Amino acid sequence: MSNLTKNFFIALSNNEFLNKSAQKWGFRLGAEQFVAGVDVDSVLASVKNLNEKGISATVDHLGEFITERSKSISAKKNILELINQIYEEKIDCHISVKLTQLGLDITEEFCLENMQEIVGLAHEYGIFINIDMEDYLHYEQTLHIVDHLRKHYDNVGTVIQSYLYRAEDDMDKLSDVRLRLVKGAYKESEDVAYQTKQAIDQNFLKLAKKRMQGDTFTSIATHDHNIINQLIAFAEREQIDKSKFEFQMLYGFRTDMQQSLANDGYLFCTYVPFGHDWYGYFMRRLAERPQNINLIIKDKFYTADNRLKKTPVIIGSAIAASLAYLLFRRKR
Ligand code: FDA
Repeated sequence: MSNLTKNFFIALSNNEFLNKSAQKWGFRLGAEQFVAGVDVDSVLASVKNLNEKGISATVDHLGEFITERSKSISAKKNILELINQIYEEKIDCHISVKLTQLGLDITEEFCLENMQEIVGLAHEYGIFINIDMEDYLHYEQTLHIVDHLRKHYDNVGTVIQSYLYRAEDDMDKLSDVRLRLVKGAYKESEDVAYQTKQAIDQNFLKLAKKRMQGDTFTSIATHDHNIINQLIAFAEREQIDKSKFEFQMLYGFRTDMQQSLANDGYLFCTYVPFGHDWYGYFMRRLAERPQNINLIIKDKFYTADNRLKKTPVIIGSAIAASLAYLLFRRKR
């Protein structure tokens, strides 16, 4: 994929005006294909559906880069409600959180307090909390908070991004922590991160194999069939027990492959996002794979018998207005 396209969608994902507009006007642009509704009931209905098919889930209450205390507190309350409901309804899933939603950009202490409440309640119920890894600006602070929480709780883990040069060192330091391994979704500088797909993939494979040979559970999060097939072959060759790792993919992506891995007896966990704040998440998915737009255009713009729907006029105008706004701001 061209860097230009990737940069374009990453820029859109960071645009505050569009983010706010998306929330205000319910400007969905087809996001529901990748986001399981806006409230707890809808997301848990989707998770129960997955559970029936032998798939576990990690639920993400969408939101990031929050700078107002009241908004972080409200996000925390939503997550606490989610934990209670997962426990009461005995649903097979854990939770993923983003620290910038829970106050990391306000103060680290405030964020830690929020996290202690979340991880503390989840600990009582035996529910695992995974801390997503965000951009490199927040990297050290995230590891710091993980360290703090791990002093009191064993039900918390985080993510290692194979695009970072330091990924292996950090992964080794966290050898007794449940980790998710990903390639990395943000635009990082060549001072800290590999820039080519080949280098990132190679590092991903190296790190995954190393973790699979260790003792601690690992989530291998990728949609890349080449990597998945190589790791399955590796696990068979090295006789690595299937209970030591799981595959993870995002909700709405490669659903046939998700099901077939689960049917083949591999632990499978779908990352299921929900909430009003879907815009940044959605744009990053388009940055990773602009072909996702094809799926949306087909779904949004055409009926089952391939006739054009009326909504494109509204959605098309909204996209055009957004792009014009962006170009205007850039020129200024
Ligand atoms: P990649 O985009 O490298 O594609 C490789 C190949 O796979 C493609 O060439 C194509 O052949 C195939 N492919 C990929 N997607 C496909 C599709 N939809 N349909 C058909 N073929 C497809 N990042 C981060 O920085 N912090 C985090 O906390 C997380 N968390 C996270 C959780 C989970 C469950 C997942 C799956 C991913 C993340 N990520 C993340 C995102 C991650 O870093 C990465 O950006 C994306 O997963 C994209 O990389 P992939 O390895 O999936 O495939």
